[in-house]
Amino acid sequence: MKDFNGELVYITGGSSGIGLAAAKLLAGKGASVAIFARRKEVLDEALNEIATCRKSPDQKFLAFQMDVSSRDEVNSVLQKAAADFGIPDVLINCAGRARPGYFGDITYGQFDETIKIDLYGVWNTCSFLVPLMKQRGGCIVNVSSLCGFIGVFGYTDYCAAKFGVTGFSEALRSELKTYGITVSVMCPPDTDTPGYAEENRTKPPETQAVSATASIMKPEAVAAALLKGMEKGDFMIIPNADGKFTWIMKRLFPWLVEMVTDSQVKGVQKKLASAK
Ligand SMILES: NC(=O)c1ccc[n+]([C@@H]2O[C@H](COP(=O)([O-])OP(=O)(O)OC[C@H]3O[C@@H](n4cnc5c(N)ncnc54)[C@H](OP(=O)(O)O)[C@@H]3O)[C@@H](O)[C@H]2O)c1
Repeated sequence: MKDFNGELVYITGGSSGIGLAAAKLLAGKGASVAIFARRKEVLDEALNEIATCRKSPDQKFLAFQMDVSSRDEVNSVLQKAAADFGIPDVLINCAGRARPGYFGDITYGQFDETIKIDLYGVWNTCSFLVPLMKQRGGCIVNVSSLCGFIGVFGYTDYCAAKFGVTGFSEALRSELKTYGITVSVMCPPDTDTPGYAEENRTKPPETQAVSATASIMKPEAVAAALLKGMEKGDFMIIPNADGKFTWIMKRLFPWLVEMVTDSQVKGVQKKLASAK
């Protein structure tokens, strides 16, 4: 079992939601934590919260302003972080966002931004840190989504990015095993975070109907599953039973998953048509 005590952890998106919950849990287990995100005031507030969870006075906590979608910015910020703080034992790529909408309403600009944040963001941090981490091994977790293995109505751009994260992680796992680096991908279900509240603002009715059939998790429970998955060295980390069931069904009976989601969508579209 992996022990986080004394380890150095980098978390992109560590200032909010799932990333922040993971940072607090890891601080409680004795890890030093560096968090990376764009908004300074949110980073500062998060850093204070994380520090209150510390186990020992030796632990260090730092925050860095960084946009994961900018390769140049990632390279320069991570260079500074590695010099000031050290090479991480654990990298958690949690920065990301979803802006659901009908395919016809998603502009090229939104698609481009989604891919840059949710997919290139993971590539950017890994491409800088993997060569450094190869020196002594470690652990990488890329946060994907249930949208990283199932195509969900209203998430064309987000599914494209998150399927990419899942595939990237699977290939990277295979390459890095020989260097003692464990690569995992986490696929959370709907989770009650500031990002999820923002996401709900643009969900088409069909997407809301599909979401309504699933349970919502607390970020702390998702973070606990993330740590447990890392401790066990699991590749695919799915935090709840519903998500695991969907994963199995999608692999074994994809036609059945399509049938169920199509009928949910059809039901909503019928209601909308009769209300007109
Ligand atoms: N919540 C859910 O239902 C759910 C379900 C499945 C998967 N996920 C995935 O889980 C991850 C965390 O989501 P969350 O719900 O916890 O969201 P959240 O509460 O909005 O937190 C997102 C974090 O990512 C940071 N971030 C966003 N864009 C960034 C960028 N370009 N560069 C650097 N940092 C950036 C945010 O800070 P700044 O905005 O200040 O940069 C924040 O720290 C995401 O990858 C999301 O896709 C979430």
